[in-house]
Amino acid sequence: MTENENTLPALKTRGLNLHFSTRKGTVHAVDDVDISLQKGRTTVVLGESGCGKSSLARSILRLLPNNVQLYSGQVLLNGKDIMQFSQERFRTAVRWTKISLVPQAAMNSLNPVMKIADQIAEPLFVHRMVRNRKEAAERVEKIFRLVGIPEDFLRRYPFEFSGGMQQRAVIAMALVAEPELVVLDEPTSALDLLTQASIMNTLKKIKWDLGITFMLITHDISTSSELADDVAIMYAAQIIERADAGPFFKQPLHPYSEMLMESVPVLHELKEPGSIPGSPPDLLSPPEGCRFARRCPKRYEACSRPPPMFEARRGRMVRCWLYA
Ligand SMILES: Nc1ncnc2c1ncn2[C@@H]1O[C@H](COP(=O)(O)OP(=O)(O)O)[C@@H](O)[C@H]1O
Ligand code: SF4
Ligand SMILES: [Mg+2]
Repeated sequence: MTENENTLPALKTRGLNLHFSTRKGTVHAVDDVDISLQKGRTTVVLGESGCGKSSLARSILRLLPNNVQLYSGQVLLNGKDIMQFSQERFRTAVRWTKISLVPQAAMNSLNPVMKIADQIAEPLFVHRMVRNRKEAAERVEKIFRLVGIPEDFLRRYPFEFSGGMQQRAVIAMALVAEPELVVLDEPTSALDLLTQASIMNTLKKIKWDLGITFMLITHDISTSSELADDVAIMYAAQIIERADAGPFFKQPLHPYSEMLMESVPVLHELKEPGSIPGSPPDLLSPPEGCRFARRCPKRYEACSRPPPMFEARRGRMVRCWLYA
């Protein structure tokens, strides 16, 4: 099937790379990443800490630190390669209005001396989406309702918000300019379980109400599984499995994904959750062959060469020689 307007993903990356230069050498934070975010669906990007999730988010939004050594590949937004856009065009035509980000630990970046409602309204003025303060206030009230912040918080400062409410506020900020795609980088990891669940429910409702596309980054399968339509597993700067959430959770295929799923504690089961022995490789000099080989109980001779992505089953991509 050729990709037409209906089947075109909201965003697709092809061979995306982001490397940093450091005193010790080159850090491969994102290596040859192909990811496809389908319209109106939530793709959960899952991986251990340090595997490159935040770097992937940054490379999609072009929010790069100074020590970038390599930034290459394609980022196709509705089929258009936004990597080719000038900084100015990217800033005015993409960031906030088409793609927005809830950065990791975003609540720490709220301005403590400015009312939250005013901070949320800021992008509206920057992008000339409102004509005056009254229109902005109406939009902010609407977005407060959407993300579940009570109306009497409109005149409050960040310190008067709980952690959960602050997180809702940064989600509101990401949504206010009505983007098509929102990238959420560990949006609930600093919060208690109950608050996490409540925010996940809100995100689910927003997805239904607005038909928005989410890329949800997390290291924690259990909080995200309910929201996931698609899953992308990241390991050592690469995507190693991509699948629909249903079949994935029933039966993960990559040996790393299998072990990851076994490490999740299951309610009402006496079985101890498994753990993955060893640690991920150093991204300063990732191994030549399969990056999971050192920890993989199924490795064999072929694994000394880097595996490409194989289509293991229809729509299921796995970076592992077992599926060659
Ligand atoms: N600006 C930077 N300079 C050098 N290394 C970095 C920089 N930012 C991130 N890294 C490294 O890149 C790797 C991926 O980091 P990150 O994307 O934050 O992973 P995750 O979000 O999955 O925890 C890590 O090894 C991290 O130390
Ligand atoms: S390629 Fe080999 S080492 Fe890598 S996950 Fe597959 S079986 Fe394990
Ligand atoms: Mg991160």
